Amino acid sequence: MSTAPRAILITGANRGLGLEFVRQIVCFSTPPKYLFATCRNPESATILNEIAKSHSCVKVLKLDVCDFSSYKNLKENISTMLEGEGLNLLVCNAGIFNRIGFEDTTPEMMTAMYTTNVIAPMTLAQTFAPLLKLAAQKLPEETKSWRKATILNMSSDLGSVGMNDNGGCYPYRASKAALNMVTKTQSIDLKADGILTVAVHPGWVQTDMGGQSAPVTPTESIKGMLSVVSNLSEESSGRLFDFEGELMPW
Ligand SMILES: NC(=O)c1ccc[n+]([C@@H]2O[C@H](COP(=O)([O-])OP(=O)(O)OC[C@H]3O[C@@H](n4cnc5c(N)ncnc54)[C@H](OP(=O)(O)O)[C@@H]3O)[C@@H](O)[C@H]2O)c1
Repeated sequence: MSTAPRAILITGANRGLGLEFVRQIVCFSTPPKYLFATCRNPESATILNEIAKSHSCVKVLKLDVCDFSSYKNLKENISTMLEGEGLNLLVCNAGIFNRIGFEDTTPEMMTAMYTTNVIAPMTLAQTFAPLLKLAAQKLPEETKSWRKATILNMSSDLGSVGMNDNGGCYPYRASKAALNMVTKTQSIDLKADGILTVAVHPGWVQTDMGGQSAPVTPTESIKGMLSVVSNLSEESSGRLFDFEGELMPW
């Protein structure tokens, strides 16, 4: 891919798929002007900080997605850096997982999973919607994708009701199914503002979360997801895709 959108924000950018997004996006022949790579602990994000040293577009910013009280300051900080321009792509990547089954699921686990995997992406979208809308208004003639304004929510096949044939993982499944509903509903409510939304299953990927026996590498997963999001159109907004661009059942 050649041209990245002007401004991108990624959560959980210090490791796993978030870090791989950063790695690939800085290699575009025209990289973004701003790649806001957020993470809980910037001081220990060694690899991300190394990338930022050699790619000036990468701004490493602190964000614990569960710290909702910090969102306003983050948005104001980013808004100042954008100098009157908007945000083109919001990647809600940070997520948590566990394999808890029926007997062992607790209200606390359900709450924690919802807070990170659903409430945070929803609240981030609300917080950054004005900047996304601004980006969409700058390129009204663009009908496709991320050069305008897009929200990418990191979903999972485990959140698909239609594909669930082996049970288990209650908090995670329920949280990603809820995130899917958030994505679809946002696609309707934000359409008039020119903001596209998409839920993407990255595949079962070799990260700390996916484990080393996963069949898909981070490189393959992110290459595919960047292709999906860059080709997103108004018609395909509000859908669930896998990283290879296949439509998935809700
Ligand atoms: N890997 C897979 O096979 C797979 C499959 C389907 C879906 N997904 C989804 O893809 C996304 C990324 O997964 P991954 O495989 O890269 O997972 P990972 O290797 O476990 O990395 C998770 C990332 O999320 C961050 N994070 C968690 N809670 C956070 C919080 N409260 N605030 C800020 N950051 C937080 C982590 O930061 P810390 O380092 O600070 O913990 C880390 O950067 C997740 O949404 C996941 O559900 C992954």
